[in-house]
Amino acid sequence: DWTMSNFAQTKIKEIKEKVGDKKVLCGLSGGVDSSVAATLVYKAIADNLTCIFVDHGLLRKDEGDQVEKLFTSEFNMNFIRVDAKLRFLNKLKGVSDPERKRKIIGEEFIRVFEEESSKLEGIDYLVQGTIYPDVVESGTDTAEVIKSHHNVGGLPEDVDFELIEPLRELFKDEVRNVGLEIGLKEDVVFRQPFPGPGLAIRIMGEITDERLHLVRESDAILREEIKNAGLEKEVWQYFTVLPNVRSVGVMGDERTYSHAIGIRAVTSIDGMTSDWARIPYEVLDKISSRIVNEVQGVNRILYDITTKPPSTIEWE
Ligand code: XMP
Repeated sequence: DWTMSNFAQTKIKEIKEKVGDKKVLCGLSGGVDSSVAATLVYKAIADNLTCIFVDHGLLRKDEGDQVEKLFTSEFNMNFIRVDAKLRFLNKLKGVSDPERKRKIIGEEFIRVFEEESSKLEGIDYLVQGTIYPDVVESGTDTAEVIKSHHNVGGLPEDVDFELIEPLRELFKDEVRNVGLEIGLKEDVVFRQPFPGPGLAIRIMGEITDERLHLVRESDAILREEIKNAGLEKEVWQYFTVLPNVRSVGVMGDERTYSHAIGIRAVTSIDGMTSDWARIPYEVLDKISSRIVNEVQGVNRILYDITTKPPSTIEWE
């Protein structure tokens, strides 16, 4: 059994010796794994690391700014944020099929990353936040693909860089401990899993600015209230979805015909199976009334009470 402080110090030393004066590139998604990997490498080689953060415009409210702030203000990393929102939205125009969305986002991500990295000179190594379950999973290529989990941050296989994968031997909880050990805050280290394709797979049907707005704003309210209720650590994942269903409501004397928003909140050990979270009625009540009051264009709130299986955690 590692003590994580040992692990971090050993890895930092190892990376320092391996890299020397060479230059290293890292693709940051803001997720736990890539954040911990980047920070470990940064501790080892400081300015010889450059991070590229591709903002595909499908992140949660304020998330891009938070990632940028963490790595530029708290750490002083060489950090490149690529605002690629329009590119992704253009590619996704008119696309409704979940697997096509994933494929387009995965491919566009690689394209943007390649373009940005080709502007940099003399890079020898690439950091990846691969963790042990990723290693195991990619070893067993099961034919039955339920959803293709293109982890955005997954990069082309034919790059010239040698890989640095400091977290390869670790499970998620160990990665979190390493993160805390090297000074990352709890809100980064205990961040809930967020799919690479982001909000795109939480909007049923076509992705438009308006629909992104509905899901992003309602999600922000949900997260705020889960936090206020102190439930953040009990619930594995919690988010809103846009089912793309409109229904009739009434507001004042007016009839409305507006969107429904779904709340998905699950408990899970590893994401493979899940149960719906028994969020207290008072908390649900607050979330519901806040969303319909604060997010214009929403007049109905649904709570998803299915387990996985037969459902999945995400709606697409
Ligand atoms: P499902 O929806 O299959 O999700 O029950 C299980 C876990 O995987 C996440 N997920 C994804 N992660 N790319 C990712 O990086 C994807 O395309 C993707 N689809 C689902 C999901 O959020 C949950 O944690």
